Order: sequence, then structure tokens, then C-alpha cells
Amino acid sequence: MQEIQQVSKDFFALSPEEKEVNKIKPGTSVGYGRLFETGKTVANWVDRITIWSYGEQSRAEPCMPPKPERFRQVVDEYSEAVVKLCMRLIETLSTTLGLEPHILGEHINVKTVGLRTSFNYYPPCPQPELVLGIMPHADTSFVTVLQQDETPGLEIEKDGQWILVPPVKDAFVVNIGDLLQIVSNGKYRSVMHRVLVNNTVGRYSFPNFFMPPKETVIQPVKELLSETNPPLYRSLKFAEYISGFYVKPLTGRRLIDSFLLTPSES
Ligand code: OGA
Ligand code: NI
Repeated sequence: MQEIQQVSKDFFALSPEEKEVNKIKPGTSVGYGRLFETGKTVANWVDRITIWSYGEQSRAEPCMPPKPERFRQVVDEYSEAVVKLCMRLIETLSTTLGLEPHILGEHINVKTVGLRTSFNYYPPCPQPELVLGIMPHADTSFVTVLQQDETPGLEIEKDGQWILVPPVKDAFVVNIGDLLQIVSNGKYRSVMHRVLVNNTVGRYSFPNFFMPPKETVIQPVKELLSETNPPLYRSLKFAEYISGFYVKPLTGRRLIDSFLLTPSES
């Protein structure tokens, strides 16, 4: 965790030209630069690079920055450990859904699930009340394992209120993502969250998104369904879900609601 922090500091200290070597290409989710922006929205106050850090996509298009030199080696070791943790989380979540430990993992074909990692640096902002580091959203993952530094900023929404998630040294924050909401048929809810910035200290954070390959079909686990618990979500390809995510600016609306079988009124 410390080394990830260090190589990220080294990366963000590079010149703009060096950081832009792997600029985000339209329609993809990896590379250097901000997502979700259309020119009409308020900018997210963040310097950011996203890579595929583990799995099939990481072999095909990792988008690793060439500098700093140690970046790749540190990320390889880190992502392997984070994936192991995600595998354990999926087993535990299976149990807490009332299923045998292996059922959820089999359903999502857990061995094919990869990791996308973002490296965020939120610089101090002279007027922090006018911006957000990242606008409200839910993650596009099954689960997200987030490393944050000692500077507060992350808030989650609960009962219509924004609540700060205080940093805990050497601990990860685990967020439930939209895909777990679908496969658990709504038993687990993905968490809406946003990031505040401040005018004195910069903040680093590293979310690891545990996500399947594009062709994977996402649908509720059949063992959870019954006459009294019918499927809430239609089945969809991950590619279909993700294509809806990046075309729209973040408005705080829940993308996942567009896959409900019975659309909600709100
Ligand atoms: C994200 C995110 C939270 C943070 O990048 O999706 O929610 O604490 N980051 O920076
Ligand atoms: Ni997020």
C-alpha cells in the first residue's frame, strides 16, 4: 500500500506531457484524464489515471504509464493481492446472502473477473465549496476495494444524507458496486458516493474495481429467486451496462435503475 502511494506521487509529479502519454480515448475507461465530462458539466477536481491492473483486459490493453519505471512492478504485486482479497469477499458475500460460499463466485465466473485500478490525486482547491473531487455516482463493479490516504474527502449517501468515511490507517474501504446489486437481486445496494476537496492538502486515493470481461452476462443468482422473490433486473451484458456509464455526465441518477424489469417511479 505504501509503495502504491509512492509510485503515484512520482507519477503525478511528472510534467503534463509525460502524464498524457496514455490519454483516455473516447469510449474507453482506461488512460490518463477525467471521465464523465461533456464540457457542459462542472469539472471534477481531480488528476487521474486508470489502468487494467489484473486479468484478461490487463494483458490486452493495460494502459500502464511508462513512467515511473517501478510503476508496473508495484502494481502487479499489489493487484494480485487485491484480487485475492476480492475472491474472499465474494465467498463471504455469498454466505451472507444465505448461499453456499462457492455459489456467488460460480455465478459471476469469478476466475475471469479482473481489476481496474484508478490513481486519483485531488489537488488543494482555492474555493473547494464550488467543486467536487468526483460527482455522486455508484461504481460499475461487483465490489470496489479503495485505498485512501490520511486526508478525509470520501462521502457516502445514507438515508438522503452525505456521511464522511474517515480514513483508517492501513485499511481498505469496501464499496458495493452496481453489479453486486443486480446479481444479489437487490439484497445488496450499491453505495452512492462522492468526493470533497479542501484548500490546504492534496489527497490521494486508489479504488480497485473488481469487474468482469465485457461479454459477461449479468443477472440475478437463480438460487435467490422464487415466486415471492422474482427477478428485479433483466439480464444484460456488462458491455451494455458500461456503455451507458461513460456517455452521460454524472448526475446522481442511478444508472442501474434503467435495468429494472418494473421501472421505478422516481
Ligand atoms: C472513484 C471514487 C473515491 C475516492 O474513483 O470511483 O469513488 O475516495 N473514488 O477518491
Ligand atoms: Ni467511485
